[in-house]
Amino acid sequence: MSNNNNRITTAAGAPVGDNQNSVTAGHNGPTLLQDFHLLEKLAHFNRERIPERVVHAKGAGAHGYFEVTNDEISKYTKADFLSEAGKRTDMFIRFSTVAGELGSADTVRDPRGFAVKFYTEEGNYDLVGNNTPVFFIRDAIKFPDFIHTQKRHPQTHLKDPNMVWDFWSLSPESLHQITYLHGDRGLPATLRHMNGYGSHTFKWVNAQGEVFWVKYHFISEQGVKGLDVDLADKLAGENPDYHTEDLFNAIKNEDFPAWKLYVQIMPEEDAKDYKWDPFDVTKVWSKKDYPRIEVGRMVLNRNPENYFAEVEQAAFSPGQFVPGIEASPDKMLQGRLFGYSDAHRYRLGGNHHQIPINRPKNEVNNYQRDGFMSVNGNGGSTPNYQPNSQNGPAEDITAKTTPFEVHGQADSVPYDSEDHYTQAGDLYRLMSADEKDRLIKAFVGHMEPVEKEEIKLRQIEHFYKADPEWGERIAQGLGLAVPESVR
Ligand code: HEM
Repeated sequence: MSNNNNRITTAAGAPVGDNQNSVTAGHNGPTLLQDFHLLEKLAHFNRERIPERVVHAKGAGAHGYFEVTNDEISKYTKADFLSEAGKRTDMFIRFSTVAGELGSADTVRDPRGFAVKFYTEEGNYDLVGNNTPVFFIRDAIKFPDFIHTQKRHPQTHLKDPNMVWDFWSLSPESLHQITYLHGDRGLPATLRHMNGYGSHTFKWVNAQGEVFWVKYHFISEQGVKGLDVDLADKLAGENPDYHTEDLFNAIKNEDFPAWKLYVQIMPEEDAKDYKWDPFDVTKVWSKKDYPRIEVGRMVLNRNPENYFAEVEQAAFSPGQFVPGIEASPDKMLQGRLFGYSDAHRYRLGGNHHQIPINRPKNEVNNYQRDGFMSVNGNGGSTPNYQPNSQNGPAEDITAKTTPFEVHGQADSVPYDSEDHYTQAGDLYRLMSADEKDRLIKAFVGHMEPVEKEEIKLRQIEHFYKADPEWGERIAQGLGLAVPESVR
């Protein structure tokens, strides 16, 4: 029997007399509708699930801190949390797979999400990246179609390599990313043994208003390690939560994983004539041209207390910037600026920023009011309109986004560069002989079940154009020949 300090209550706080036996009419009679506690318990249970994320549904999260190690970073951005060496900011990270559902296996070949929320003194800054520096497509308008091919077939409800390779072979800009995906990085040993990338190019602005283009690289201090494919398959059956468990246990055992954050910085003017379009997310910048500069160190040192409250309800948005960090014209990023907050309004509601995991640690002041689940006092009696003469919160002009010029005609146009092959080929050529063998095996295994030969041949052409040896090896593995027209 509970004592008074530890007694079960209804959601409204009234003590519950019996949580094991429902109220019945007589000893063996039917249950009475008046058993309010029973009704409340069943009704709440029915509402336990919220929509899972449409992508990146399966994930694991952890709390930690970010500490600046380089005093010079304020040369490039006025972001307050990067202002001086030694400055620490609380953060939360969520790692994820992309295509699987909430309960799917961790050890599958897929990019891994690497979403970081920095609780800065000037608001939350979200960096919502992956463990690969590039992406499959480069215009947001293709994203829903792309994801449909990664999910289940509309008829069979099965994952379907026909859809996948049909789409990829018709979208050759995907070649660079699918090379990462079918290489060792597509199947990380643990979530601790992978790097994270912002992938897009972002804009940094310093206190003098100077603009720099920036790419983020989180480099794992644990090293980058892949998982053996056969072991991964076995684990997917025996312990589908292998990565989730590994992260939780490492932190529980105080073996705190850490990453160094580096950036590549491109002066604003260089973007005009760099050899690659710096806003094309299917391309990387050469580290010779733009060496990595250390920024700081991220350490994960605290497990969530409650998975649903902290991980499932976490809302990361690439549109959530702080002064000193802004969007670039990358067409994928531009679409993402809309996509995420819209998903959060659907999945968590219009007041999702009030959920503790998403709540900024600094004060929030604005004229947004009401809506479902407004639980923060809703502004009390303070004015709910602007302009007002009641000394309500006012703008800070130093936080205005930097003005920039735009040129040309409004039109729907592709990116200029059609070279999908040089960087993918370079990545292939960088691999050791063993890595190449594993890569070819992974591609051949994935493409083998594709029914239409025309799809396989179209894709072989892309491999061949990136590196003839690569094309020949895939063709051979599939029992086909590189078409004469391509040689
Ligand atoms: C999750 C859309 C491209 C990384 C999501 C979600 C949506 C979405 C709707 C679920 C958000 C939620 O329910 O909380 C899009 C669109 C894209 C795009 C429209 C392209 C136009 C990318 C790219 C990356 C990325 C390029 C990485 C570079 C992630 C990550 C998550 C995610 C890491 C999981 C965030 C979390 O842990 O909550 N995406 N995505 N996405 N996306 Fe994207």
